[in-house]
Amino acid sequence: MLSKVLSAVNEGLDSHLVEVEIDVSGGLPAFEIVGLPDKAVSEAKERVRSAIINSGFKFLPNNKKRVVVNLAPADVKKEGSIYDLPIALGTLLSSKEISAQVGPEQEEKDEGMPEKKDIQKIIRESLFVGELSLNGELRYAKGILPMALLAKKLKIKNVFLPKINAQEACLVKGINVYPLESLSHLYQYFLGQTKILPSKSSKGLRKIGLSQEYEYDFGYIKGQGFIKRALEIASAGGHNVLMIGSPGSGKTLLARAMPSILPQMNEREILETTKIYSIAGLLKESEVVKNQRPFRSPHSTTSNVAMVGGGQIPRPGEVSLAHRGVLFLDELAHFGRATLESLRQPLEDGRISVARARGSITYPSKFILIASMNPCPCGYYGDPDKECKCSAGEVMRYRRKISGPFLDRIDIHLNVPRVKIDKLMSEKVAESSSDIRKRVELARKTQDKRFKDSKVMINAEMGIQQIKKYCQLDNQAEELLKNALEKFVLSARAYHRILKVARTIADLVGADNITTEHLAESIQYRTKIDENVF
Ligand SMILES: Nc1ncnc2c1ncn2[C@@H]1O[C@H](COP(=O)(O)OP(=O)(O)OP(=O)(O)O)[C@@H](O)[C@H]1O
Ligand SMILES: [Mg+2]
Repeated sequence: MLSKVLSAVNEGLDSHLVEVEIDVSGGLPAFEIVGLPDKAVSEAKERVRSAIINSGFKFLPNNKKRVVVNLAPADVKKEGSIYDLPIALGTLLSSKEISAQVGPEQEEKDEGMPEKKDIQKIIRESLFVGELSLNGELRYAKGILPMALLAKKLKIKNVFLPKINAQEACLVKGINVYPLESLSHLYQYFLGQTKILPSKSSKGLRKIGLSQEYEYDFGYIKGQGFIKRALEIASAGGHNVLMIGSPGSGKTLLARAMPSILPQMNEREILETTKIYSIAGLLKESEVVKNQRPFRSPHSTTSNVAMVGGGQIPRPGEVSLAHRGVLFLDELAHFGRATLESLRQPLEDGRISVARARGSITYPSKFILIASMNPCPCGYYGDPDKECKCSAGEVMRYRRKISGPFLDRIDIHLNVPRVKIDKLMSEKVAESSSDIRKRVELARKTQDKRFKDSKVMINAEMGIQQIKKYCQLDNQAEELLKNALEKFVLSARAYHRILKVARTIADLVGADNITTEHLAESIQYRTKIDENVF
């Protein structure tokens, strides 16, 4: 007998419907799974068999010996272990262990309990996902959120999934999320022996798990007003920053304080980042929503694949995990050249395409890059108080690790000086992060209004057309920019990026037009380091 159960497959950040067809028949003993399964899917046979038996059912009763499972469409690769539940359910249905006739004879409709006549309909109108343990319990599954969104899109009413994933799926309104503990839990539900009520999300998207505690606060970082200002601009408009300075000057500290001045995410951003973390399997039980902007700081030994994503079982890389947040590359010169070069596409396009045997997968990667490095191997090149011990060749080699095209994608180049001792020892508390964040949030509001009807969300994402529309200069400012471009031999990209930063600087003070003052500040961020370090 043949039965069909619906499930889903994730490709990139999107999910597609999978029809799990299960045929149980007589003949030579076999358990075959077809339809481009990967190793984990193929291994489902072992888990399903043990789970069925250990849940108290008969595996293939009545002389049935053959199980053939087809995962359609057959040309999309199916990965992972989430098909255990649909395969087990289909096998039980096909072998008549759960016959369509089960279900309670009810006088009155009882909430949370299906009626006998409804069971076939419920199965037809539901998505089933979940990995089974050998004793039939359901385990945490990756990538549930995109599947729940798919159910909503296709008007599939119900999603049956592991209990531990229920809150994540509940972020999608308009579907019934049924939390399951085990295979027999589902069976008892169909038998009318137990109730399962759809889960409800108690709080709004932005409230769940939100804590306003930050590890570092700008208030405790002494001096460095110029750098803090630049980081405020980066945070407001989403611009990339490179900090160069001698050891102990506070580069890492400043970067780590960055999350405390990032604005709160809106609902669209929360859903985007949560989807990425869901697919990467990084959402924990306590954290169903990613509503704090991500701050990723991969080590310099990170591989290419870990940085941009992909691999045997495709997974979002650091650039996508930092989507809508910060990617912090500390000790930039120590990263492999190939790794840095692989960042060129995501930095420019805000997304990364990873090639696969069949087509390619695209993950979003709109992040603020914050990079830091020393100016030379000993770290003191250009330091006013301490002599550099490196030879000219060593300094050259060190800097050559960062290519021109990579540097060109960075909007704000900063020289981080060491803080003077009296400043460091003073008791004065600087402006706190929450005050800075208020200005940043105001600037973001202006941008929200500006880009209301477009895909762009912040100034850094503007394309040429938008730059032309929103970054107009008066004659005096135009002359200033022209001189700067000639003097510092800047690229077309640099020209556009200077304008975008200037737009953000104007937004921070609520100005409609970019003035010479705003532009001059933007130009200095671009040119300060180039002339004496690179
Ligand atoms: N402006 C500052 N205010 C208060 N403490 C500071 C400041 N700058 C540096 N420090 C102190 O110095 C420590 C080292 O700073 P940090 O690690 O940021 O230096 P760095 O520039 O990253 O150095 P390196 O180039 O060696 O990585 C900090 O943990 C902090 O204790
Ligand atoms: Mg450091």
